[in-house]
Amino acid sequence: MPLHRAQITAVHGFVPKDILSNSQLETMVDTTDEWITTRTGIKERRILKGEGLGTSDMAAHAVDGLLKKRNIDPAEIDLLICCTVTPDMKFPATANIICHKTGIKNAFSFDLNAACSGFIYGLITASKYVESGSYKKVVVVGSDKMSSIVDYTDRQTCVIFGDGAAAILLEPCPPGEPAILDHEFRADGSGTPHLHMKAGGSLKPPTHQTIDAREHFVYQEGQTVFKFAVTKMAEVSETVMRRNALSPDDISWLVPHQANLRIIEATSKRAGIPLSKVMINIHKYGNTTNATIPLCLWEWESQLKKGDNLILTAFGGGFTWGAVWLQWAYNS
Ligand code: UT7
Repeated sequence: MPLHRAQITAVHGFVPKDILSNSQLETMVDTTDEWITTRTGIKERRILKGEGLGTSDMAAHAVDGLLKKRNIDPAEIDLLICCTVTPDMKFPATANIICHKTGIKNAFSFDLNAACSGFIYGLITASKYVESGSYKKVVVVGSDKMSSIVDYTDRQTCVIFGDGAAAILLEPCPPGEPAILDHEFRADGSGTPHLHMKAGGSLKPPTHQTIDAREHFVYQEGQTVFKFAVTKMAEVSETVMRRNALSPDDISWLVPHQANLRIIEATSKRAGIPLSKVMINIHKYGNTTNATIPLCLWEWESQLKKGDNLILTAFGGGFTWGAVWLQWAYNS
C-alpha cells in the first residue's frame, strides 16, 4: 500500500456562455428535437465562440477558479495534466499553455489523450505521482473544444458534442482517509476504425484533398461504438465493485461519461445502481469528451459528503474504457 494516497480536494468547471439548442440544429441539418432528445437525451450544448479562443482558454478558466476557490498560489502546483483530444496546437502541449495562462510556474505539465476516457486516465496517472510522495499539489483538467472538430453537416455526430472544461486538485492524504482507491482500465486499438479522425496526423498529413473530403472531423460509426460502450462501462464498474466487495447499496454516486443518455441508463441498470444515484447533465452540455466527468463532480459538489463512495466510468475512442473507485474527501 502506498505511504500517501491521493484525494480530490477541490473541483471547478467552466462552460462557454453560447448555447446551441436542438431547435437551432434543426435549421442546420436534417434532424428534429424529438429525435435528438429520444436517441441521446441531449437538449442543448455549449459552444466556445470568439476569435483566438481554444481549449486552453476554457481550461485556464477552470484552473483559475479551482485555485482561487482554495486560495492556492499557482506557484504551489507541482504538476498539471491536461486531458484533451482538441489541443490548441499539435505541439506544444496545451498543458504548458494552460500553466502559462494561469501563472503556474513551478510545475511540469503534459497532455494526455485517451479520447473520452482521458479524464479518468489522467486522474489515475496524477494519483500515482501523488502516491510517490514527491508531488503535493497536482491539477488534472479535462477540456475540449469539440466544436473545432465536429462536422456541422453530419447529423450523426454534430448533435452529440459540446464544449467545456473542468479541473480537479489532487493532494496526498494518510491511508484510511477518503481517497482514490482502485481502478480498472483497458484499451483496444482494434476499435480505431469505428471512431477516429482520418487526416491531420503523421499517417495522413493535411492536404487540400483531405480538407475537401472533410477528413479533419470526428468520424464515428455510432451503433458499433454504442454497443461496445454499453457492455464495457458496466463490465469494468462491476469488476471494481466486486474486487472491493462493494454492493450497489454501498455506492453513493455513479459518475458516467456523458455520451448518450441511453448508454448511461443501460450502464446504471447493468451495474445495479438506480438512476437516482447517477449523475446526469448530458441534457445541458452534450458530450464534452474529457470534461464530462469533472463537470458532473463540479455540479454535484454541494451534494457530495465526505466518505461517499463514487464509481467513475468512461468509454471512448481507441477504444479506451475504465472505472475508478474513490471516496469523496470533503463536505463543501
Ligand atoms: O463519447 C465517445 C463515444 N461515443 C459514443 O458513445 C456514441 C455512441 N453512439 C450513439 O450515441 C448513437 O449511436 C448515435 C446517437 C450516434 C446514433 O443513434 P442510433 O440510435 O444508434 O442511430 P442509428 O445510427 O442507428 O440511426 C438510426 C436512424 C438512421 O436512419 P435510417 O437508416 O433508420 O433511416 C439514421 O440515418 O436515425 C438516423 N439519424 C438521424 N435522424 C435524425 C442519425 N442521426 C440522426 C439525427 N436526426 N441527428
